[in-house]
Amino acid sequence: MTRDETSARKRDHIRLSLERDVGFREKSTWFEYVELVHQALPELDFQEVSTETTFLGRRFSMPLLIEGMTGGTPEAAEINGNLAEAAERVNIPIGVGSQRAAIADPGLEYTFRVARERGPRAFLIANISGVQLAKEGVEWAERAVEMIEADALAIHLNTLQEVVQPEGFAGFRGVRDAIERTVERLGVPVIVKEIGCGISREAAKMIEEAGASAIDVAGSGGTNWTLIEMLRAEGVDEEKRALAEVFLEWGIPTAASLIEVASTVSIEVIASGGIRTGLDIVKAMALGARMGGMAHPFLKPATQSPGAVESRLMRVKREIQAAMFLTGCRHTGEITRSKAVILGPLLDWVRQRVGDGGIR
Ligand SMILES: Cc1cc2nc3c(=O)[nH]c(=O)nc-3n(C[C@H](O)[C@H](O)[C@H](O)COP(=O)(O)O)c2cc1C
Repeated sequence: MTRDETSARKRDHIRLSLERDVGFREKSTWFEYVELVHQALPELDFQEVSTETTFLGRRFSMPLLIEGMTGGTPEAAEINGNLAEAAERVNIPIGVGSQRAAIADPGLEYTFRVARERGPRAFLIANISGVQLAKEGVEWAERAVEMIEADALAIHLNTLQEVVQPEGFAGFRGVRDAIERTVERLGVPVIVKEIGCGISREAAKMIEEAGASAIDVAGSGGTNWTLIEMLRAEGVDEEKRALAEVFLEWGIPTAASLIEVASTVSIEVIASGGIRTGLDIVKAMALGARMGGMAHPFLKPATQSPGAVESRLMRVKREIQAAMFLTGCRHTGEITRSKAVILGPLLDWVRQRVGDGGIR
């Protein structure tokens, strides 16, 4: 793929994400089926509540991660720089988007490196697709990490996107072994993530066995990549457009995926895909997540300034603090399963797929 084609695709992704409603039409995250139990007598002052947490061995100011989104165009460079500067100020981890374009074309490296330049002490997460890793080898993972002096690497799995994307390539044979080889070779922790269809317990087990340090579920209910690719295919590739339309609501709702993964593995779990508030994050933590991840909510502020990103981050922090206070949690370690009740379809899902271990 040429530089122009890749840049056009990246521009399309950002433009469509900003200008169109790219959420799911019918499906949700299913966090509405998780209730946190209100405690009228928390025996705490609000100011005592601490949102600090540890993730991959490092201490952060709150259990929130900015998910990888972009790179490869001048506009994306500005976004990555603003995100990294805000993430460093607030002390939370931040990911960049897929670095494939810059590995193939070093002239684009600056659009990712800007994150390290503007966040010299930020916890930066490099990003590469599982398909590329299997195709190109572990060297690509090493180059992605070196490019931004990353503290961790995210390997994304995007089966449905590759199937419906006009220029997609769904060569998923050998991805599991490629993850294992990457873990063995890299000096930084590896996170394996989806991009909006969720991770099942079967996949989670394979990922843990391959040696990854964390799983980011990126379930359905948030940004809908099938819809974004369907909009891109309009007037360009009618077969792919029609295929995407059939699978618009595909995926494991984030809350269901989180319970599947958290009850299966002992590595750290990030809940993402439609996480929109600090309340969602505290619910996710009660279901076993270590962190909550958000992508789309930070895209617009990131096109404005680091200050705009920072004020959105502080809003989420206040929401986390409020939810912790109302459930009687002084530290994030106290946000346990006993704080939540699972209802309706989520309870049905957990009973069928996980059994009582997922309920209590
Ligand atoms: C504009 C945009 C670009 C994205 N690009 C990538 C990417 O390059 N690599 C990746 O692993 N995930 C990518 N994602 C997926 C996010 O990291 C995240 O998993 C997903 O969007 C769910 O989070 P959300 O509902 O909060 O947006 C992108 C998301 C958005 C909104």
